[in-house]
Amino acid sequence: MNILRLATTLLCLASALPFTAQADNLPLPADTPAVFKTECTSCHLAFPPQLMQAKDWRQIMAQLDQHYGDNASLDPKTRRIIEDFLVRNAARGKSFSSSVATSNDTELPRLTGTAWFTREHREVARANWTHTKVRSASNCAACHTKAAEGSFRERDILMPNGQRWED
Ligand code: HEC
Ligand code: HEC
Repeated sequence: MNILRLATTLLCLASALPFTAQADNLPLPADTPAVFKTECTSCHLAFPPQLMQAKDWRQIMAQLDQHYGDNASLDPKTRRIIEDFLVRNAARGKSFSSSVATSNDTELPRLTGTAWFTREHREVARANWTHTKVRSASNCAACHTKAAEGSFRERDILMPNGQRWED
């Protein structure tokens, strides 16, 4: 391995480590504005901004009137505060890029559509996602009992059949 390859490898490792080490703990960032909690948690969990890229957050925030089949419109000032926060804390890694065809206006990006999400959940059997207690991969709290507090630890996972998750 030449010195450049080695340096690149070390750099990649260094940038990947902080996230990997804390992948089971995703509390909302310290600079979370109050409006994010009041406006983005009435229908679902406050999704951690670090799980999707800035361009995907921008697209979601630009189309709040057509939000996955719902209307989540906000006044321009509130919308701006939330978008700035999401973009500021967005993911940088390639695996956080949503696989959704973002050119299609009816399809919004999803953090559940990233390579990262698929990888973290590759051992979860299909029947769990369609279970009546879950229904959608977006329904994090159906399995991660402490998702609202930012904990995705294995010991806080309860599968829809009532069993604890074991590796
Ligand atoms: C009126 C209800 C409502 C409000 C308010 C709302 N959402 Fe949503 N959101 C939804 C629905 C419904 C879905 C689709 C859930 C599903 O597919 O199970 C969704 C999905 C999402 C997803 C994709 C989750 C995935 O599967 O990866 C993101 C990201 C998201 N919302 C962000 C936000 C943000 C940011 C706000 C605040 C600006 C917000 N939502 C406010 C209803 C809402
Ligand atoms: C059907 C149940 C289920 C749903 C719904 C679900 N997960 Fe998971 N998740 C799991 C299981 C089980 C694991 C552990 C997988 C393993 O260890 O192989 C896991 C692992 C994780 C991890 C890695 C934790 C670690 O120890 O590194 C994160 C982060 C995570 N999920 C986030 C989410 C988010 C965010 C959502 C919602 C957008 C979500 N999950 C929805 C079951 C679920």
